[in-house]
Amino acid sequence: MKKTILTILIFALAAIAVYAEGTAVVYFSATGNTERVAETIAEATGADLFEIVPSEPYSTADLRWTDDDSRVSLEENHDSVLDIETRPGIANTIDLAGYDTVFLGYPIWWGHAPSILLTFLDDEDLSGKTIIPFCTSSSSRIGNSATDLAEYEGDGNWLDGMRFRSRVSEGDIREWLEEIGY
Ligand SMILES: Cc1cc2nc3c(=O)[nH]c(=O)nc-3n(C[C@H](O)[C@H](O)[C@H](O)COP(=O)(O)O)c2cc1C
Repeated sequence: MKKTILTILIFALAAIAVYAEGTAVVYFSATGNTERVAETIAEATGADLFEIVPSEPYSTADLRWTDDDSRVSLEENHDSVLDIETRPGIANTIDLAGYDTVFLGYPIWWGHAPSILLTFLDDEDLSGKTIIPFCTSSSSRIGNSATDLAEYEGDGNWLDGMRFRSRVSEGDIREWLEEIGY
């Protein structure tokens, strides 16, 4: 009897260990660039892919950053993304309970992450997880965008983030993954 209980216990612990060792790629992308990077990371690492889907999709007009009255301009605070109060909603639920490593991707908007990332972090418990931020941009560097997200979240082991140019090649993405041990 004791042996049976022990065997069940060992299997249960092994199952929990396997369950918690997954890698997820979570991303928000308004025009497909970050999505392409996220797909390559998922394919190269065998990770599961999750898109952060805004409750209301961003139209081309919404994304006009040169128009002071556009949706993105109205959602923006140029001083700090952490102070943005109008946060876009998210249409889907992303359950990261079974993952211990999370690649987190976003485009750079005005030097930082879009505020929908904050909405995402509000709903997630990242404690005990390793987070690897990545972003795409036309020319800006990653800047404080990833460390701002880490500060906002408070939990999790956030590694250095990586910025890719919008049209980064698949080879460059795979090279970075190899550099960080994937
Ligand atoms: C509202 C908005 C603000 C942006 N701000 C910047 C910026 O500050 N620096 C930059 O290099 N690119 C900026 N871009 C360009 C995007 O970062 C770039 O096109 C990115 O690859 C888009 O990713 P996505 O296709 O996944 O949405 C901005 C784009 C938008 C729509």
